[in-house]
Amino acid sequence: MENHTYAVLAEKLKKVYHLYKEEIVALKGIDVTIKKGEFVSIMGPSGAGKTTFLNLVGCLDKHTEGSLIVLCANLASLNERQLHNMRRHHLGFVFQEFFLIKELTALENVQLPIVFANEYKNLPWAQYLLERVGLKQRMNHQPKELSGGEMQRVAIARALANKPDILLADEPTGNLDTKNARDIYDLLRQLCNEEKITIIAATHNVKLAYLADRVIHLREGNIEKDELVIERRF
Ligand SMILES: Nc1ncnc2c1ncn2[C@@H]1O[C@H](COP(=O)(O)OP(=O)(O)O)[C@@H](O)[C@H]1O
Ligand SMILES: [Mg+2]
Repeated sequence: MENHTYAVLAEKLKKVYHLYKEEIVALKGIDVTIKKGEFVSIMGPSGAGKTTFLNLVGCLDKHTEGSLIVLCANLASLNERQLHNMRRHHLGFVFQEFFLIKELTALENVQLPIVFANEYKNLPWAQYLLERVGLKQRMNHQPKELSGGEMQRVAIARALANKPDILLADEPTGNLDTKNARDIYDLLRQLCNEEKITIIAATHNVKLAYLADRVIHLREGNIEKDELVIERRF
């Protein structure tokens, strides 16, 4: 198997949380391969293991057993500095809660990761990204002056600031109404097609999930179904 064509290669991936004396097996040994450039939905009810999977791929947490290779890096063998580099240079994150800095403008929020990476020469990229997500007219607005859909667009632009290979989105439309949720998914679809970004997005919204190329159904820590979306159903 040519590893470099894969964004994610997970084998018998298991995650156990320890809560007091209780063991919670959030992922029970799943096998998943995600190709570069794929747009994959992770579907499943609350507690299925969606966030756990995204956090493991995103190097925000460590798996317990099995193997997890992300962009050719075997995560179990990386030290903290290398994991930090993965997060900073190769992975972008979008969350349900947006997590924008409320004192900063849209533009400053998107510039922040570029500043942290000491890539000042790339600051104009932040402007391009905000235009790309349809916020050319909102760059100098603070989050409180933006709608939920607009805030999530800023968060997506920020997630793309350091040109990640994989964008991880955890219920990105959980706080949005139907129209804005659909618009955000259309944007993700475009970004995947045009910018060749691998997108892995958790949702429990069936209609949105099937806008991806593939839908992986998780239930109680197992893969219940893994289906390619041949025709757009909605
Ligand atoms: N930090 C944690 N400590 C203990 N248990 C956790 C933790 N995070 C998640 N869990 C448990 O792991 C299971 C999967 O959770 P999660 O991945 O958040 O599911 P989902 O995102 O699909 O709702 C649930 O039973 C949840 O209660
Ligand atoms: Mg979750």
